[in-house]
Amino acid sequence: MEFVVKSGAAEKQKTACLILGVHKKTLPPSATALDSLTEGYLADILKRGDLDFKPGHSLMLLHSRHAPVERLLLLAMGENDKPLTEAGFNKLTVNLASQLKSLNAREASIAIEDINVEGKSLHWITRQLVEAIEYAFYQFSQFKNDTGKGALSKISLKKVTLLADRKNAEEVKAGLAQGQAIGNGRNVARTLGNLPGNICHPTYLADEAKALAKQHAKLTTKVLNEKQMSDLGMSSLLSVSAGSEQEARLICMEFKNGKRGAKPLVLLGKGITFDTGGISLKPGAAMDEMKFDMCGAASVFGVMNAIIELDLPINVIGMVAAAENMPSGKATRPGDIVTSMSGKTIEILNTDAEGRLVLCDALTYAERYKPEAVIDIATLTGACIVALGHHTTGLLSNNEPLAEELISASKEAMDRAWQLPMGEEYTRQLDSNFADMANIGGPAAGTITAACFLAKFAAAYPWAHLDIAGTAWQSGKEKGATGRPVPMLVQYLLNKI
Ligand code: BES
Ligand code: MN
Ligand code: ZN
Repeated sequence: MEFVVKSGAAEKQKTACLILGVHKKTLPPSATALDSLTEGYLADILKRGDLDFKPGHSLMLLHSRHAPVERLLLLAMGENDKPLTEAGFNKLTVNLASQLKSLNAREASIAIEDINVEGKSLHWITRQLVEAIEYAFYQFSQFKNDTGKGALSKISLKKVTLLADRKNAEEVKAGLAQGQAIGNGRNVARTLGNLPGNICHPTYLADEAKALAKQHAKLTTKVLNEKQMSDLGMSSLLSVSAGSEQEARLICMEFKNGKRGAKPLVLLGKGITFDTGGISLKPGAAMDEMKFDMCGAASVFGVMNAIIELDLPINVIGMVAAAENMPSGKATRPGDIVTSMSGKTIEILNTDAEGRLVLCDALTYAERYKPEAVIDIATLTGACIVALGHHTTGLLSNNEPLAEELISASKEAMDRAWQLPMGEEYTRQLDSNFADMANIGGPAAGTITAACFLAKFAAAYPWAHLDIAGTAWQSGKEKGATGRPVPMLVQYLLNKI
């Protein structure tokens, strides 16, 4: 979407669709001006009760004869003059985005200052609105023919003008830039997530990372192949790809734009490009959704794209542990014991608990960056969906300040996360009779024991783990990757500068 920021009275705009926010009690200035221009037309309509003022409702008025605008879209801002709550604002943006999607016009203009949200700046409101529009207009169309029943809906809108007072224009522009970078980054993550496993395999991800580095001077991509990983002793990671025809890759995207010598932040994504479960084969129902098992990796790509677009003055390493988990004569068996790069031995009791096996060697490898912090992002456990559903990302950490920074970023970005506890009593569930640890900790507290496993490899630095099993994609009619937690992570990085 093309966005522009413009100053000037809303009622004087020549636009195919002018969008205003209206309260039941008093009309905002732009609407009042339009009302007098139309000899009380607006007030009349509102008095008639044509608009339900609960947030999320709106009213489209066509071809208002007395104003330069062709259409007027009124957004309900509530029964009184109070600012919207966050929840009300969410409903408003979802409704607005869907109205814009079906609008039969090339451009529309929004009086952005009409929208007020409790305790939030115009910068924040602009950013969230832009993010919502970018999210709604995303289409994954590369495998659809553009005719026939399965064809995607045609979208006419190409340009949105954000109308704001001259004194606020700079703030709106700044919010717009962030909203677009986050929205675009999120959509990059969605596309990688939506790609099927036969196309998006570990080498594909590595090639994407190399291509990104080619376009941007501040980014360097290094890729380790299986031979190089084997030389480093990454037998845990390699045990996952053992059954696959696809070779594993460890991808490191190094973004250097901060102070020289400043410790980098490392983001590490689980990149299982397809998870069959391996010899501990998954049941067939919805197994296609295991193409989304690289959504952690996809979110790392999304964040890298966003920070490049925003040119953030920080050092960030985007790592991806990419492998495909398949059964075959060469696949790892339940009971196999492997030695990780750290030297710790692991008894693999279930080959479907593969995410932690690729992440643990990558966590050890991350030590060489002497990171300020490492955050891994992984569709790690079905148990996380049981605990938090599809609304909230699980957060576990060995460092309280880091956990707090992430929680606060998640609130600010409206990309919710919730911290779960860790502790020795949970770690003990991983005890093995035959090796230093098992790769599963039994049915109780599966998300926590998975994090406790990872923590054994992350003792050298502040570390946090985001379990996005429930939030990375949607199932059913709306099946598709969500691009979460790109907004939270970009906010976390923005808060660093
Ligand atoms: N990728 C899955 C986790 C998953 C399952 C995410 C369903 C989203 C939806 C992961 O590799 C896995 O299979 N985990 C197992 C762990 C168990 C064997 C301890 C799980 O959650 O069942
Ligand atoms: Mn699995
Ligand atoms: Zn998995």
